[in-house]
Amino acid sequence: MQIITKKEELQLCVAACKKEGKSIGLVPTMGALHEGHASLVRRAVSDNDVCIVSVFVNPTQFNNKEDLALYPRDLERDAKMLSGIGATYVFAPTPEEMYTSEEMEKPFEFDFGGLDKVMEGKMRPGHFNGVVQVVSRLFYLTQPDKAYFGEKDFQQLAIIRFMVERSALAGSFGNLRIVGCPIVREESGLALSSRNERLSAEEKATALAISRTLRDSVEWSEKGSVKEVEKRVTDAINAVEGLEVEYYEIVDKTTLLPTDSFSNAIGCVTVYCGKVRLIDNIQY
Ligand code: PAF
Repeated sequence: MQIITKKEELQLCVAACKKEGKSIGLVPTMGALHEGHASLVRRAVSDNDVCIVSVFVNPTQFNNKEDLALYPRDLERDAKMLSGIGATYVFAPTPEEMYTSEEMEKPFEFDFGGLDKVMEGKMRPGHFNGVVQVVSRLFYLTQPDKAYFGEKDFQQLAIIRFMVERSALAGSFGNLRIVGCPIVREESGLALSSRNERLSAEEKATALAISRTLRDSVEWSEKGSVKEVEKRVTDAINAVEGLEVEYYEIVDKTTLLPTDSFSNAIGCVTVYCGKVRLIDNIQY
């Protein structure tokens, strides 16, 4: 496995792979890798000749400076894990390598047809614009056949699919296929997240109420309306000391708009567990 920090070097490696007719799978990450990331990388390794994993804490997608500063970083540990599961290249650039100072201050504005105005997008204005800022650069640099994203960040996945479909119309990303991969959970049910590292043992136990309530809500959906289930989930999580729901919305999986039916629906939740912001979802 080779660690690359410069765009030009990455592009040379990609060009050599393309020349040999090798397929390329890309797994974009912000590092602090866990079993959820490992599942994406294993899939990319088994589907493609070459697997590129980017490890880059992307400043343009953070609208909270403290969150950016506290984001866990450990490239050495990440690289060890990636080499163990067969990644071919790790691309770990600096912010200056990815962005000019103008791009950092005044990023290009994408149009996501409103998908970025709900849920996470409403709570974190500019977040998805920042995500696509970096993901589109990574697509350009690595020219992947397939790119892998976790379904835990369901809205992110929907927005990236939208961006690729739009760009495919303009011919930018060739036949790139976006592959969504299922949420990986601890045995307890807690969805794996790099942010879990910031939870104390007590908070981790408290956070279990999130996945447990989402699981229960599948049963509740057999008897109650969407509005009733939304309220029941929100109340049940808020009733646990130490948890505070930011939003829980049941939306259509394709449009991300509120729905009054459970068909093609997903329930997306964001909860503060102490100071740590956790997200999870459940498909009905
Ligand atoms: O999901 C993430 O970790 C990030 O949003 C991504 C896709 C790597 C872009 O920085």
